[in-house]
Amino acid sequence: MSRLTAQLLDGKAVSQAIRSEIAHDVAALKRSAGVAPSLAAVLVGDDPASQVYVRNKIIACAEVGMRSVEVRLPPTATQDQLMARLRRLNEDPDVDGILVQLPLPPTLDRTAVILALDPAKDVDGLHPLNAGRLLMRLEAPVPCTPAGIVELLERYRLPIAGQHAVIVGRSEIVGRPLGILLLQRDATVTMCHSKTRELPVITRQADLLVAAIGRPAFIRAEHIREGATVIDVGVNRLGDARAAAALFGEDSPRVHQVRERGYTLVGDVHPREAAERAAHLTPVPGGIGPLTIACLLRNTLRAAQARRQAAVR
Ligand code: GUN
Repeated sequence: MSRLTAQLLDGKAVSQAIRSEIAHDVAALKRSAGVAPSLAAVLVGDDPASQVYVRNKIIACAEVGMRSVEVRLPPTATQDQLMARLRRLNEDPDVDGILVQLPLPPTLDRTAVILALDPAKDVDGLHPLNAGRLLMRLEAPVPCTPAGIVELLERYRLPIAGQHAVIVGRSEIVGRPLGILLLQRDATVTMCHSKTRELPVITRQADLLVAAIGRPAFIRAEHIREGATVIDVGVNRLGDARAAAALFGEDSPRVHQVRERGYTLVGDVHPREAAERAAHLTPVPGGIGPLTIACLLRNTLRAAQARRQAAVR
């Protein structure tokens, strides 16, 4: 067996490049419209990971010169309270983009929330009007993680047309829209999910393998064709030092991280086994995560451009 070591695709560096382009356009919009784009990030409950994600989005806004507001609702918030808050954000002329951090507490109806968003402010691209526009190849905000994945492949000049892309995970926010984007770029797309039989047989056919299932280190060597490009969308918290040692090696700084911070992050792909079989691999952290944020900033900028320019006309 060969011991190929995958090239790591540096999502952080690509995200930095996208962010400086955005900062430039934000400054231009400020000059022409007199105001910076603004994002409202809605967080319901106190899930620690979601808190970190929202905080990172707020910091990223400031770094490109955008305004943002974090809207916090307690875990006990009712559907009516959340809907009332969203209505106010929809109507607030000063808010360009609205993001409701997912997952919501299980008592709340996520579909009703998505349907309640003003499609013009839906920077996640989840509202059916935007999802439908994407299907029809019309201008629309594209869900941030799939947009980030395509951007990463394009900036590294990795081929998409004619490639067999296998996507594991059929979520509305990642797997399904990514399938559409790759199909539009002439890939042959296979969607796999929890009921797929003989998963490794299918994933081993992939030139481009995307894992978006939320199960730590689920994709192993047996799933990966030698020389494939592997995109790891998973962000899972691993709190067991022994499990971290098995994944990263006994002497890995990740093991110390678990002991010191209480957890380390691991993707949906086994990091060492994938590095030995893939030609290109996204790391966790520092792969797709930063690109998701960069694409959120871009969707917010575009929403602001459309709204502010429409107001000037
Ligand atoms: N939770 C995990 N990823 C995302 C995302 O891209 N958008 C929202 N709103 N919630 C998420």
